Formats: sequence, C-alpha cells, structure tokens
Amino acid sequence: MTARRCFIAGNWKMNKTVTESLALARELRGLVSMVRHVDIAVAPTFPALHPVAKALEDSNVQVAAQTCHAEASGAFTGETAAPMLKDAGASWVILGHSERRQFFQETDAGVNRKIGAVLKAGLLPIVCVGETLAEREANRTLEVVSTQVKGCLDGFKADVGARFVIAYEPVWAIGTGKTATSRQAQEVHAHIRSLLTGLWGAEAAAQVRLQYGGSVKPDNAAELLAQPDIDGALVGGASLKASDFAAIIKAKAQA
Ligand code: 13P
Repeated sequence: MTARRCFIAGNWKMNKTVTESLALARELRGLVSMVRHVDIAVAPTFPALHPVAKALEDSNVQVAAQTCHAEASGAFTGETAAPMLKDAGASWVILGHSERRQFFQETDAGVNRKIGAVLKAGLLPIVCVGETLAEREANRTLEVVSTQVKGCLDGFKADVGARFVIAYEPVWAIGTGKTATSRQAQEVHAHIRSLLTGLWGAEAAAQVRLQYGGSVKPDNAAELLAQPDIDGALVGGASLKASDFAAIIKAKAQA
C-alpha cells in the first residue's frame, strides 16, 4: 500500500485584502519552513492569488484557487479560467465547495466539467463533498456523499484520479465550531475510499488523499489526522491566522 503524504490546505474564502494576504502568506512561510513531511497549500482570493504565489515562490507552501470556470476563455463576465490560474501560480483548484453549491448553484455535473478544465490546464482538483445536517439526521450521509463522489468523478480514469484530492466537509461542521468526531469523519472517509476502490481499483484508491474539513482547529487536528483514512485537512477559519494554521500542520507530527 502506498503511504499517503499528509496534505493540509487553507481555504481563505472571501477574506483578506491583497496586502493582508501577503502578510499572512509571509508569516506562514516563516512558520512552516522546517516542515518536511506535510504538503501545504493556501487558497487566497483571486486578486491575491498571483502576489501570494510570488511571495511563496521556492517555499514549501503551494497555492490553490477557490474555484474556476469550465471553459478556457471566452465571454463569461466575472469568471476566471483554469489556464489563467496556472499562469498566476496556482497548483490546485478547490471545486464543489459547499458554499459554491449553496450560493452559486454548483452541481456535481458542473464540478465534473471543471475537473476536466483543471486537468487540461495542468492543475489538480481538490473536490469537496459533504452532507447537510438534515441529510445526516435522515441517515442519508453515505448516500449523499456517494452521489457527489460518483457525479463529480464520472469519466475520469484511475491514472489521473489517483492524483486527485477529495475533501469531505460535512456542511453542518463548516464555520459552526461543530467538528465531526474523528469516528464520524473516519467512517465517511472509509466509505469514500471504498467507492474509489469500486471506481478505480484498490491500488489507485489507496493513493487518493482524503482531507477532512469543518471546524478543524489546532486542538482537534491531531486526533482527526490520526485516523487511517484522513490524509489531511481543508481548513477555513483557522487558516486565517498563521500561528493557528501552522499549529494544525505541526499537529500531524503528533498524530
Ligand atoms: P471552517 O474550518 O471555517 O469550518 O471551514 C471549513 C471549510 O469550509 C474549508 O473549505
């Protein structure tokens, strides 16, 4: 079985001016420069992406975008295309975040098209899935997550799929301070891994990194990251403070 490298990404969402983003990136760069066994990325807003990528050049912190358009260029006012993100210094694109699904009508089929665009541009996707509170209470968590994973990944083969990252973010745990217990998170992660085994075979499924997201903080990160199928975290609020985000990254050492 492949050892999966831990991958911790910070989703800054619609926070921080360019100036503030640069300050945060520089502070983080200093705090994590000695980290060797964890992959790290931050996802600034579009205006800050290129300056942040420049500020993180030759560091161990990569840059992600928070979304992109499925077309490479054209008359889509307000949108940003994957090749532009690549050129601006991104390595990853977060797709299908629950806030995109909730406020911007993003669907599994739309995410599926965007994954194609991301790969074509030489980037890699972080594909987000997760159930709402109503769906969890109706015992529909695994069914909802299965539909999302299958819909988003439809048509992609094991050779590229093994490099994808999937983030399980229960909607009820995002920004609420309510974290899934490590047992709840591990259960869904194991389920996603078994779905991937069905889609791509055991060898590819064992390479896919599964991040947990939803109120990850310095004090709960180690326990979550110690679970066998939790290979990293997608961090919102706590990634806006360099010391907290660095503490989450360093928590892996104790996991
Ligand atoms: P919080 O860490 O603020 O709950 O956000 C999680 C998230 O949505 C990351 O994409």
